[in-house]
Amino acid sequence: MTGKAGPIIFAFIVFFSCSTDERSGRFDHLDKRTKIRLRQYLAEGKRLYTLHCANCHQPDGRGLARLYPPLKGSDYLLPNVADVICGMRYGQKGEITVNGIVFNQEMPGIPGITDLEIAEIATYVYTVFADTARIFTLNEIRQIMNTCQTHADTTDNL
Ligand code: HEC
Repeated sequence: MTGKAGPIIFAFIVFFSCSTDERSGRFDHLDKRTKIRLRQYLAEGKRLYTLHCANCHQPDGRGLARLYPPLKGSDYLLPNVADVICGMRYGQKGEITVNGIVFNQEMPGIPGITDLEIAEIATYVYTVFADTARIFTLNEIRQIMNTCQTHADTTDNL
């Protein structure tokens, strides 16, 4: 019955709360240059998220039933930063628990995605869905990418 209205109302709430973030002071601790960069990363990150991730995780980040886990409010995001970053390029598989629900599907990686694109998507995901106002620098992404275990189970092609 409310199947259609639910997501629309939810998207509206997400949009509304994002647009008031700056006024409500969530970005206050950041200096001016960082704020500008955060805004650029968020805009580009949103575009890339819509292109690469929203099909499965949905535009509002709520995921899809037991197939695709949610990003919005996901308790997996903060403790597993490296896995999230690596997963964008190399994919992710194996059992994981998100907000108490077990998922065990394969998420395909995006082999051609650049470190900058990963930084922008990660900034978007952690700021909008994990509520942290976190900016990922290119250096940070590069360092994390060097630690990724790829699905090949060998270090030969790292
Ligand atoms: C084809 C569908 C699909 C696409 C596209 C996809 N994912 Fe996933 N994602 C999944 C599945 C399935 C899992 C669960 C994997 C498992 O069971 O180990 C997952 C897990 C995750 C997780 C960890 C669990 C959670 O919900 O916190 C994150 C974070 C994530 N994806 C982010 C992304 C981002 C960012 C993108 C875009 C760059 C993306 N995904 C694109 C299907 C997808």
